[in-house]
Amino acid sequence: MRSQYCGALNASFIDQEVTLCGWVDRRRDHGGVIFIDLRDREGIVQVVFDPDAKENFALADKVRGEYVLQLTGKVRARAPSTVNPNMATGEIEVYGTALTILNEAETMPFPLDSYSNVGEETRLKYRFLDLRRTEMQKNLRFRSKVTSVIRNYLDRNGFLDVETPILTRATPEGARDYLVPSRTHDGKFFALPQSPQLFKQLLMVAGYDRYYQIAKCFRDEDLRADRQPEFTQIDIETSFMSQEQIMNITEGMFRELFKDLMGVDFAEIKHMPFSEAIAKYGSDKPDMRIPLELVDVKDLVTEVDFKVFAGPANDPKSRVTALKVPGGNEKLTRKQIDDYTKFVGIYGAKGLAYIKVNDKSDLEEGLQSPIVKNLPVSVRKAILDRVGAENGDLIFFGADKHKVVTEALGALRCKLGADLELYTCQWAPLWVVDFPMFEDDDKGGWTSIHHPFTSPSCTPEELIANPGAALSRAYDLVLNGTELGGGSVRIHSSTMQQAVFQILGISPEEQREKFGFLLDALAYGAPPHGGLAFGLDRLIMLMVGASSIRDVIAFPKTQSAACVMTDAPGTVDDLQLRDLHIRLRKKEKAVVAEDAPEYGM
Ligand code: AMO
Ligand code: AMP
Repeated sequence: MRSQYCGALNASFIDQEVTLCGWVDRRRDHGGVIFIDLRDREGIVQVVFDPDAKENFALADKVRGEYVLQLTGKVRARAPSTVNPNMATGEIEVYGTALTILNEAETMPFPLDSYSNVGEETRLKYRFLDLRRTEMQKNLRFRSKVTSVIRNYLDRNGFLDVETPILTRATPEGARDYLVPSRTHDGKFFALPQSPQLFKQLLMVAGYDRYYQIAKCFRDEDLRADRQPEFTQIDIETSFMSQEQIMNITEGMFRELFKDLMGVDFAEIKHMPFSEAIAKYGSDKPDMRIPLELVDVKDLVTEVDFKVFAGPANDPKSRVTALKVPGGNEKLTRKQIDDYTKFVGIYGAKGLAYIKVNDKSDLEEGLQSPIVKNLPVSVRKAILDRVGAENGDLIFFGADKHKVVTEALGALRCKLGADLELYTCQWAPLWVVDFPMFEDDDKGGWTSIHHPFTSPSCTPEELIANPGAALSRAYDLVLNGTELGGGSVRIHSSTMQQAVFQILGISPEEQREKFGFLLDALAYGAPPHGGLAFGLDRLIMLMVGASSIRDVIAFPKTQSAACVMTDAPGTVDDLQLRDLHIRLRKKEKAVVAEDAPEYGM
C-alpha cells in the first residue's frame, strides 16, 4: 500500500511521487491550507493539501487525530523559512495529490505526545495506544536490536538456540510458582518455569556443549520497578569451561552490546568478593558510581558508655558502621538528616547517629553531634582517623544487627548518591563473586543464596561439616546497582547434589520425587558445566535510561500482577473448572445464597 515510510523521506526524494500510509499525528488548518503530520513507525512527515484540489481538500478537512490514511503526493523542498531542524524530515514536505481515509479514530483517551498527567493504569489499559508513542516505539525497537546483537554474538561463538518447556515442574529460584492445572491428570499441576535452569543443565548432559535461549520466565513474587511476574532472560549454559572462561564469554556479550549499541567501551570489569561488597557497600549489588564507603568501627566502641553503640559492638551478630559524606556538613540540612533517619527506619534501623566535623583539631568543641558527648575523646579521634574525616564532612552511624545496619546504610549510600548527585561515571559494571552457598533461614535451617544446583568451592564432606562457611562458585554481573545477571558453575556429581539437598532439608524421598530426573542425569556422565542468565528487561531498562522495566516490555503487568487491558487473570466458567477437576474455595466473606452451588476444596 505504500512506497516509502514517512520517516524515511529526505531531500533525496525531492520531485518524486510517493505513497505513504500512517496515522495523523497532527492536523493544522493554516488559512486555507491544511497541514497533516503523518506518522508511521519510522517517523513523521508533513503533508500539505491546498484548496485547488477540491475533493482531496474536503477529505483532508474531515481528518482528525489518529485517523489512518493512505496518501500520495510529490516530495518538495520546504521554503527556507519553514525548514524544521528538529524534525528528521524537516527539510521537505509532501504536496498531497490523493488521499484515502483508511480508518477513523475516536478521540484519544490521553494525548500521545506527552503523558505528564496520565496514570500508568490508563496507559496500560490502552497499551495499544501508549505503544504508538515515540518513546515506547524507540524502546521496543532498541529491544529488538539488543536481541539481534545477542543472537549474533552467541551464534558466532557456537551457541545453539534450544527451546525448553513452559509447562513443566517447579524449578526453584526462590519465588512462588505459577501453576497450571492439568485436565488429563486429575489433581495435578504443571508449574511455569521460574527459569530454564534444569533443562539447560540436561542439555549439557546431552552433549550440546553451548546453549542459549531468550527465555520467558515466570515468578509469582512481590513486584517492583525492576521486577515483573513474566520476564525474559538471556539464558546461557556451557560445558567444559572454567568459571573464568564462562565469565569471560558472557562478559564479551555484554561488552559487545554496549559497544555496538551505545558506543561505550568498558575498561576492565572488577571482580569483588561478596564479603567485600557487603562490608564496604552494604549490598550484594553495589552501585559503584557512588564514591561513598561503609567503614566498620565496631572495635573502637566496645568499651564506651553509649549503649546504642556498645551493645551491638559486643554482639558477634551485630555491626557498628560509619558512612562518611565528604562535605556533607554543608550539603545536608537538619531536615534532610531527619528525613534520612526516617528513611533508614524502613530497614529497621532505630536511629541514625551522626557527627558533623567542623574542626577536627578540636575534638571537644569542633564536633557537632547528638552522640559525641557519649564518646571519649580518644574514641572520637580513632573514628575520625579510621574514616579519614576532613573538616566539613558529616559521618553517619548505624549500630544494630548485621542485616539491619548493612541494609540501612547500604540503602542510605545509594540515596545519598542520587540526592547529592555524587555519581562519578555513567556506567559502573562489576562482577560480584564468592557468594556464600547458604544463608540462615531463621528457622534453624539453611536456604540457598543462588539456586540449589550451584557448585560449592569445597568437597561434599566440608560442605556438610560447615554449611555456613562454604562459598559457592556463583557470580553476578551488576550494573549501576542493578543485578543484571547471575550464574554459576553447577554441581555435576550426584553425591554433591545430594549433599546440598540434604543441607536444605530435602529428604531422600523428596529428592527422588522432585529431582529424580536430575540425579539420574548426573549419574549418566554429566560433564562439568556452568552458565549464566541476564535479565533482558533490566538490561534494556538501563540502556535506554527507563525508570521501570514496564517501559521496555510491550505488554507488562501492573504492580498487582494483572493486565488491565485484557483483564487477566479472569474468571472461567464452571464447566472449564470441572474439566480441570477444580472447585473454588468459598471466599471468606462472600454471602452465598441457600441454593447456590457449594464451594470448597
Ligand atoms: P536469577 O534468578 O539470578 O538466576 O535470574 C537471572 C536474572 O534475571 C533477572 N530477573 C528478573 N527480571 C525481571 N523480573 C523478575 N522478576 C526477575 N527475576 C530475575 C535478573 C537476574 O539477574 N537460573 C539462574 C541463572 C543461572 O544460574 O544460570 C537464574 O534464573 O536480572
Ligand atoms: P538516643 O540515645 O536513642 O536518643 O539516640 C541518640 C542518637 O543516636 C540519635 O541521633 C539517634 O538517631 C541515634 N541512634 C539511636 N539508635 C541508633 C542505632 N541503632 N544506630 C545508629 N544510631 C542510632
